[in-house]
Amino acid sequence: EKGGYEHFMLKEIFEQPKSILDTMRGRLLADEGIIKMAGIWDHLERLTNAERIIIIACGTSWHAGLIGEYLIEEFARVPVEVEYASEFRYRNPIISSKDVVIAISQSGETADTMAAIKLAKEKGAFVFGICNVVDSSISRYTDAGAYTHAGPEIGVASTKAFTAQLTILSLIAIKLGNHNGNLGKADFMRLITELEAIPKKVEDVLKTVDEAVKTIAKKFADATNFLYLGRGYNFPAALEGALKLKEISYIHAEGYPAAEMKHGPIALIDENMPIVIIAPKVGHYDKIVSNVQEIKARKGQVIAIINKGDTQVAAMADYIIEIPETSECFSPILASVPLQLLSYYIAVERGANVDQPRNLAKSVTVE
Ligand code: F6R
Repeated sequence: EKGGYEHFMLKEIFEQPKSILDTMRGRLLADEGIIKMAGIWDHLERLTNAERIIIIACGTSWHAGLIGEYLIEEFARVPVEVEYASEFRYRNPIISSKDVVIAISQSGETADTMAAIKLAKEKGAFVFGICNVVDSSISRYTDAGAYTHAGPEIGVASTKAFTAQLTILSLIAIKLGNHNGNLGKADFMRLITELEAIPKKVEDVLKTVDEAVKTIAKKFADATNFLYLGRGYNFPAALEGALKLKEISYIHAEGYPAAEMKHGPIALIDENMPIVIIAPKVGHYDKIVSNVQEIKARKGQVIAIINKGDTQVAAMADYIIEIPETSECFSPILASVPLQLLSYYIAVERGANVDQPRNLAKSVTVE
Protein backbone atom coordinates (compact mmCIF):
# COMPACT_ATOMS: atom_id res chain seq x y z
CA GLU A 1 0.00 0.00 0.00
CA LYS A 2 3.08 2.22 0.14
CA GLY A 3 3.17 1.85 -3.64
CA GLY A 4 6.81 0.78 -3.69
CA TYR A 5 7.99 3.64 -1.48
CA GLU A 6 9.84 2.93 1.73
CA HIS A 7 7.56 5.17 3.80
CA PHE A 8 4.13 6.72 3.51
CA MET A 9 5.70 10.13 3.90
CA LEU A 10 7.83 9.69 0.79
CA LYS A 11 4.87 8.32 -1.15
CA GLU A 12 2.78 11.29 -0.10
CA ILE A 13 5.50 13.78 -1.04
CA PHE A 14 5.65 12.23 -4.50
CA GLU A 15 1.86 12.24 -4.83
CA GLN A 16 1.74 16.03 -4.75
CA PRO A 17 1.47 16.71 -8.48
CA LYS A 18 -1.68 14.60 -8.38
CA SER A 19 -3.06 15.77 -5.03
CA ILE A 20 -2.73 19.43 -6.04
CA LEU A 21 -4.38 18.68 -9.36
CA ASP A 22 -7.18 16.80 -7.58
CA THR A 23 -7.71 19.78 -5.30
CA MET A 24 -8.09 22.05 -8.35
CA ARG A 25 -10.10 19.63 -10.44
CA GLY A 26 -13.51 20.98 -11.47
CA ARG A 27 -12.76 24.21 -9.60
CA LEU A 28 -10.10 25.92 -11.62
CA LEU A 29 -11.22 26.34 -15.22
CA ALA A 30 -8.32 28.46 -16.41
CA ASP A 31 -9.23 28.39 -20.11
CA GLU A 32 -12.68 29.75 -19.37
CA GLY A 33 -11.35 32.17 -16.77
CA ILE A 34 -13.54 30.71 -14.03
CA ILE A 35 -13.06 29.52 -10.47
CA LYS A 36 -15.99 27.33 -9.46
CA MET A 37 -16.35 26.36 -5.81
CA ALA A 38 -19.78 25.51 -4.49
CA GLY A 39 -18.84 26.19 -0.85
CA ILE A 40 -17.63 29.67 -1.76
CA TRP A 41 -20.23 30.44 -4.40
CA ASP A 42 -23.14 29.83 -2.02
CA HIS A 43 -21.71 32.25 0.55
CA LEU A 44 -19.88 34.73 -1.64
CA GLU A 45 -21.57 37.81 -0.19
CA ARG A 46 -20.98 36.66 3.39
CA LEU A 47 -17.31 36.14 2.63
CA THR A 48 -16.67 39.28 0.62
CA ASN A 49 -18.62 41.46 3.05
CA ALA A 50 -16.72 40.15 6.06
CA GLU A 51 -15.22 42.97 8.10
CA ARG A 52 -12.47 40.60 9.02
CA ILE A 53 -11.48 37.02 8.33
CA ILE A 54 -9.98 35.06 11.21
CA ILE A 55 -8.09 31.93 10.28
CA ILE A 56 -7.75 29.33 13.04
CA ALA A 57 -5.70 26.15 12.91
CA CYS A 58 -2.83 24.27 14.54
CA GLY A 59 0.60 23.11 13.42
CA THR A 60 1.12 22.73 9.69
CA SER A 61 -2.44 23.88 9.00
CA TRP A 62 -1.64 27.10 10.89
CA HIS A 63 1.34 27.65 8.60
CA ALA A 64 -0.98 27.26 5.62
CA GLY A 65 -3.22 29.82 7.34
CA LEU A 66 -0.39 32.34 7.49
CA ILE A 67 0.10 32.02 3.75
CA GLY A 68 -3.70 32.29 3.42
CA GLU A 69 -3.48 35.65 5.19
CA TYR A 70 -0.95 36.95 2.68
CA LEU A 71 -3.06 35.65 -0.22
CA ILE A 72 -6.41 37.01 0.96
CA GLU A 73 -5.03 40.39 1.99
CA GLU A 74 -3.10 40.80 -1.26
CA PHE A 75 -5.85 39.77 -3.66
CA ALA A 76 -9.15 40.43 -1.84
CA ARG A 77 -7.95 43.25 0.47
CA VAL A 78 -9.99 41.87 3.37
CA PRO A 79 -8.17 42.13 6.74
CA VAL A 80 -7.09 38.72 8.01
CA GLU A 81 -5.86 37.50 11.38
CA VAL A 82 -4.34 34.09 11.90
CA GLU A 83 -4.52 32.45 15.30
CA TYR A 84 -3.49 29.23 16.90
CA ALA A 85 -6.79 27.56 17.77
CA SER A 86 -5.47 26.83 21.26
CA GLU A 87 -4.75 30.51 21.96
CA PHE A 88 -7.94 31.79 20.39
CA ARG A 89 -10.23 29.61 22.46
CA TYR A 90 -8.74 30.50 25.82
CA ARG A 91 -8.39 34.27 25.55
CA ASN A 92 -11.92 35.61 25.24
CA PRO A 93 -11.35 36.86 21.67
CA ILE A 94 -13.28 39.75 20.15
CA ILE A 95 -15.53 38.22 17.56
CA SER A 96 -18.91 39.08 16.12
CA SER A 97 -21.42 38.16 13.47
CA LYS A 98 -19.56 40.42 11.02
CA ASP A 99 -16.54 38.14 11.16
CA VAL A 100 -15.88 35.11 9.06
CA VAL A 101 -13.77 32.34 10.52
CA ILE A 102 -11.84 29.99 8.27
CA ALA A 103 -10.83 26.84 10.15
CA ILE A 104 -8.16 24.69 8.54
CA SER A 105 -7.62 21.07 9.55
CA GLN A 106 -6.28 18.07 7.66
CA SER A 107 -7.86 15.52 9.98
CA GLY A 108 -10.96 17.54 10.78
CA GLU A 109 -10.71 16.13 14.31
CA THR A 110 -8.27 18.44 16.11
CA ALA A 111 -9.76 19.18 19.54
CA ASP A 112 -8.39 22.71 19.90
CA THR A 113 -9.59 23.70 16.43
CA MET A 114 -13.02 22.23 17.09
CA ALA A 115 -13.32 24.10 20.41
CA ALA A 116 -12.31 27.38 18.72
CA ILE A 117 -14.95 26.84 16.04
CA LYS A 118 -17.63 26.25 18.67
CA LEU A 119 -16.67 29.48 20.41
CA ALA A 120 -16.76 31.44 17.14
CA LYS A 121 -20.18 30.03 16.29
CA GLU A 122 -21.55 30.91 19.72
CA LYS A 123 -20.49 34.49 19.08
CA GLY A 124 -22.34 34.49 15.77
CA ALA A 125 -19.46 34.24 13.30
CA PHE A 126 -19.86 32.38 10.06
CA VAL A 127 -17.43 29.45 10.00
CA PHE A 128 -15.95 28.08 6.80
CA GLY A 129 -13.98 24.83 7.05
CA ILE A 130 -11.07 23.60 4.98
CA CYS A 131 -10.64 19.90 5.79
CA ASN A 132 -9.04 16.96 4.07
CA VAL A 133 -10.87 14.07 5.73
CA VAL A 134 -14.35 13.83 4.25
CA ASP A 135 -17.19 13.78 6.76
CA SER A 136 -14.84 14.55 9.65
CA SER A 137 -16.20 16.30 12.78
CA ILE A 138 -15.02 19.77 11.74
CA SER A 139 -16.31 19.41 8.20
CA ARG A 140 -19.73 18.49 9.59
CA TYR A 141 -19.82 21.19 12.23
CA THR A 142 -18.83 24.20 10.10
CA ASP A 143 -21.44 26.36 8.26
CA ALA A 144 -19.83 25.79 4.86
CA GLY A 145 -16.54 24.62 3.51
CA ALA A 146 -14.30 23.19 0.83
CA TYR A 147 -12.44 19.92 0.98
CA THR A 148 -8.83 19.61 0.01
CA HIS A 149 -8.86 16.52 -2.16
CA ALA A 150 -5.37 15.39 -1.19
CA GLY A 151 -6.48 11.83 -0.45
CA PRO A 152 -5.68 9.93 2.76
CA GLU A 153 -2.54 11.19 4.49
CA ILE A 154 -1.03 8.38 6.58
CA GLY A 155 2.42 9.74 7.45
CA VAL A 156 2.16 11.71 10.68
CA ALA A 157 4.13 14.61 9.21
CA SER A 158 1.76 16.52 6.98
CA THR A 159 2.99 17.03 3.41
CA LYS A 160 0.46 16.70 0.61
CA ALA A 161 -2.34 18.06 2.82
CA PHE A 162 -0.30 21.24 3.31
CA THR A 163 0.19 21.92 -0.40
CA ALA A 164 -3.49 21.11 -0.99
CA GLN A 165 -4.42 23.67 1.69
CA LEU A 166 -2.26 26.27 -0.09
CA THR A 167 -4.03 25.41 -3.33
CA ILE A 168 -7.50 25.90 -1.83
CA LEU A 169 -6.50 29.12 -0.10
CA SER A 170 -5.11 30.43 -3.40
CA LEU A 171 -8.40 29.63 -5.14
CA ILE A 172 -10.41 31.33 -2.39
CA ALA A 173 -8.27 34.48 -2.32
CA ILE A 174 -8.28 34.85 -6.11
CA LYS A 175 -12.00 34.16 -6.30
CA LEU A 176 -12.82 36.73 -3.60
CA GLY A 177 -10.56 39.34 -5.20
CA ASN A 178 -12.16 38.74 -8.56
CA HIS A 179 -15.64 39.05 -7.07
CA ASN A 180 -15.06 42.17 -4.96
CA GLY A 181 -13.21 43.96 -7.74
CA ASN A 182 -9.83 44.21 -6.05
CA LEU A 183 -8.25 41.90 -8.57
CA GLY A 184 -8.45 43.11 -12.17
CA LYS A 185 -9.30 40.77 -15.03
CA ALA A 186 -5.74 40.66 -16.39
CA ASP A 187 -4.21 39.82 -13.01
CA PHE A 188 -6.94 37.27 -12.37
CA MET A 189 -6.21 35.52 -15.67
CA ARG A 190 -2.45 35.62 -15.09
CA LEU A 191 -2.82 34.11 -11.61
CA ILE A 192 -5.13 31.28 -12.57
CA THR A 193 -2.91 30.38 -15.51
CA GLU A 194 0.09 30.31 -13.15
CA LEU A 195 -1.79 28.22 -10.62
CA GLU A 196 -2.83 25.74 -13.26
CA ALA A 197 0.84 25.20 -14.11
CA ILE A 198 1.81 24.36 -10.52
CA PRO A 199 1.22 20.56 -10.56
CA LYS A 200 3.58 20.20 -13.53
CA LYS A 201 6.18 22.37 -11.80
CA VAL A 202 5.92 20.28 -8.62
CA GLU A 203 6.54 17.25 -10.81
CA ASP A 204 9.64 18.95 -12.23
CA VAL A 205 10.89 19.63 -8.69
CA LEU A 206 10.38 15.99 -7.72
CA LYS A 207 12.24 14.81 -10.84
CA THR A 208 15.25 17.05 -10.36
CA VAL A 209 16.05 17.80 -6.71
CA ASP A 210 16.49 14.33 -5.23
CA GLU A 211 20.27 14.02 -5.62
CA ALA A 212 21.02 17.51 -4.32
CA VAL A 213 18.73 17.00 -1.32
CA LYS A 214 20.24 13.60 -0.48
CA THR A 215 23.75 15.04 -0.56
CA ILE A 216 22.72 17.82 1.82
CA ALA A 217 20.92 15.35 4.10
CA LYS A 218 24.07 13.18 4.37
CA LYS A 219 26.21 16.20 5.11
CA PHE A 220 23.98 17.59 7.86
CA ALA A 221 22.40 14.46 9.37
CA ASP A 222 24.32 14.99 12.63
CA ALA A 223 23.61 18.69 12.98
CA THR A 224 22.01 19.69 16.26
CA ASN A 225 20.41 22.91 15.05
CA PHE A 226 19.06 24.40 11.85
CA LEU A 227 17.76 27.83 10.92
CA TYR A 228 15.17 28.25 8.17
CA LEU A 229 14.75 31.70 6.66
CA GLY A 230 12.40 33.20 4.12
CA ARG A 231 10.73 36.52 3.33
CA GLY A 232 7.16 37.41 2.40
CA TYR A 233 5.16 34.38 1.36
CA ASN A 234 8.16 32.20 2.05
CA PHE A 235 8.43 33.15 5.71
CA PRO A 236 5.61 30.71 6.65
CA ALA A 237 7.24 28.19 4.29
CA ALA A 238 10.39 28.52 6.43
CA LEU A 239 8.34 27.87 9.59
CA GLU A 240 6.87 24.78 7.97
CA GLY A 241 10.29 23.53 6.81
CA ALA A 242 11.59 23.85 10.38
CA LEU A 243 8.55 22.05 11.81
CA LYS A 244 9.04 19.12 9.42
CA LEU A 245 12.66 18.74 10.52
CA LYS A 246 11.78 18.89 14.23
CA GLU A 247 8.97 16.39 13.91
CA ILE A 248 10.68 13.56 12.13
CA SER A 249 14.43 14.05 12.64
CA TYR A 250 14.34 15.41 16.19
CA ILE A 251 16.79 18.15 15.22
CA HIS A 252 16.07 21.52 16.74
CA ALA A 253 15.12 23.95 14.00
CA GLU A 254 13.70 27.43 13.94
CA GLY A 255 12.01 29.33 11.16
CA TYR A 256 12.38 33.10 10.97
CA PRO A 257 11.60 35.92 8.59
CA ALA A 258 15.03 36.54 7.03
CA ALA A 259 14.99 40.20 8.06
CA GLU A 260 14.51 39.27 11.73
CA MET A 261 17.87 37.54 11.74
CA LYS A 262 19.63 40.76 12.73
CA HIS A 263 17.36 41.14 15.77
CA GLY A 264 18.74 38.09 17.53
CA PRO A 265 19.25 34.80 15.71
CA ILE A 266 22.34 36.13 13.92
CA ALA A 267 24.17 35.57 17.21
CA LEU A 268 23.76 31.82 16.64
CA ILE A 269 25.56 31.80 13.31
CA ASP A 270 28.98 30.19 13.07
CA GLU A 271 30.61 27.62 10.80
CA ASN A 272 28.54 24.84 12.38
CA MET A 273 25.12 26.33 11.77
CA PRO A 274 23.24 25.12 8.69
CA ILE A 275 20.87 27.77 7.38
CA VAL A 276 18.21 26.92 4.85
CA ILE A 277 17.24 30.05 2.99
CA ILE A 278 14.31 30.18 0.61
CA ALA A 279 15.46 32.56 -2.10
CA PRO A 280 13.50 32.40 -5.35
CA LYS A 281 13.70 35.48 -7.58
CA VAL A 282 10.47 37.03 -6.32
CA GLY A 283 9.48 39.81 -3.96
CA HIS A 284 12.46 41.34 -2.24
CA TYR A 285 15.10 39.14 -3.81
CA ASP A 286 17.81 41.80 -3.39
CA LYS A 287 17.17 41.76 0.35
CA ILE A 288 17.59 38.00 0.45
CA VAL A 289 20.91 38.41 -1.38
CA SER A 290 22.12 40.70 1.42
CA ASN A 291 20.88 38.23 4.05
CA VAL A 292 22.99 35.53 2.42
CA GLN A 293 25.99 37.88 2.44
CA GLU A 294 25.48 38.51 6.17
CA ILE A 295 25.36 34.77 6.87
CA LYS A 296 28.45 34.02 4.78
CA ALA A 297 30.37 36.83 6.52
CA ARG A 298 29.81 34.79 9.72
CA LYS A 299 30.72 31.51 8.01
CA GLY A 300 27.25 29.95 8.29
CA GLN A 301 26.55 26.99 6.02
CA VAL A 302 24.04 28.18 3.42
CA ILE A 303 21.60 25.78 1.79
CA ALA A 304 19.68 27.91 -0.69
CA ILE A 305 16.48 27.18 -2.55
CA ILE A 306 16.79 29.23 -5.72
CA ASN A 307 15.32 29.51 -9.18
CA LYS A 308 17.03 27.80 -12.08
CA GLY A 309 19.45 30.24 -13.66
CA ASP A 310 20.02 32.25 -10.47
CA THR A 311 23.61 33.34 -10.18
CA GLN A 312 23.79 35.79 -7.26
CA VAL A 313 22.70 33.56 -4.39
CA ALA A 314 24.13 30.49 -6.15
CA ALA A 315 27.60 32.07 -6.13
CA MET A 316 27.56 32.48 -2.34
CA ALA A 317 25.63 29.40 -1.18
CA ASP A 318 27.36 26.21 -0.05
CA TYR A 319 24.53 24.05 -1.42
CA ILE A 320 21.78 24.89 -3.84
CA ILE A 321 18.44 23.34 -4.68
CA GLU A 322 16.78 24.63 -7.83
CA ILE A 323 13.04 25.10 -8.30
CA PRO A 324 11.13 26.51 -11.30
CA GLU A 325 9.96 30.12 -11.40
CA THR A 326 6.42 31.06 -10.47
CA SER A 327 4.56 34.02 -8.95
CA GLU A 328 5.61 34.86 -5.40
CA CYS A 329 2.22 33.83 -4.02
CA PHE A 330 2.61 30.25 -5.32
CA SER A 331 6.33 29.91 -4.61
CA PRO A 332 5.80 28.36 -1.14
CA ILE A 333 4.16 25.36 -2.83
CA LEU A 334 7.29 24.72 -4.90
CA ALA A 335 9.72 25.57 -2.08
CA SER A 336 7.99 23.24 0.38
CA VAL A 337 8.65 20.13 -1.67
CA PRO A 338 12.47 20.08 -1.29
CA LEU A 339 12.06 21.06 2.38
CA GLN A 340 9.82 18.03 2.94
CA LEU A 341 12.38 15.84 1.17
CA LEU A 342 15.23 17.31 3.20
CA SER A 343 13.55 16.48 6.50
CA TYR A 344 12.67 13.04 5.16
CA TYR A 345 16.19 12.11 4.02
CA ILE A 346 17.75 13.48 7.20
CA ALA A 347 15.34 11.39 9.31
CA VAL A 348 16.19 8.30 7.24
CA GLU A 349 19.93 8.97 7.67
CA ARG A 350 19.38 9.15 11.42
CA GLY A 351 17.37 5.93 11.45
CA ALA A 352 14.27 7.66 12.81
CA ASN A 353 10.78 6.24 12.49
CA VAL A 354 9.60 8.57 9.74
CA ASP A 355 5.94 7.65 9.55
CA GLN A 356 5.41 7.36 13.31
CA PRO A 357 7.60 9.94 15.02
CA ARG A 358 7.85 9.65 18.79
CA ASN A 359 5.25 11.48 20.91
CA LEU A 360 3.12 12.49 17.90
CA ALA A 361 -0.27 11.31 16.65
CA LYS A 362 -1.97 11.88 13.33
CA SER A 363 -4.97 13.57 14.87
CA VAL A 364 -4.57 15.44 18.09
CA THR A 365 -7.89 14.86 19.81
CA VAL A 366 -6.57 15.81 23.25
CA GLU A 367 -6.63 19.40 24.46
C1 F6R B 1 2.55 18.59 11.23
C2 F6R B 1 1.40 17.98 11.88
C3 F6R B 1 0.67 18.73 12.94
C4 F6R B 1 -0.74 19.03 12.43
C5 F6R B 1 -1.61 19.66 13.51
C6 F6R B 1 -2.97 20.04 12.99
O1 F6R B 1 3.15 17.76 10.33
O2 F6R B 1 1.02 16.91 11.50
O3 F6R B 1 1.32 19.92 13.30
O4 F6R B 1 -0.62 19.87 11.33
O5 F6R B 1 -1.74 18.76 14.58
O6 F6R B 1 -3.65 18.94 12.50
P1 F6R B 1 -4.93 19.08 11.59
O7 F6R B 1 -4.55 19.76 10.34
O8 F6R B 1 -5.39 17.66 11.36
O9 F6R B 1 -5.94 19.88 12.38
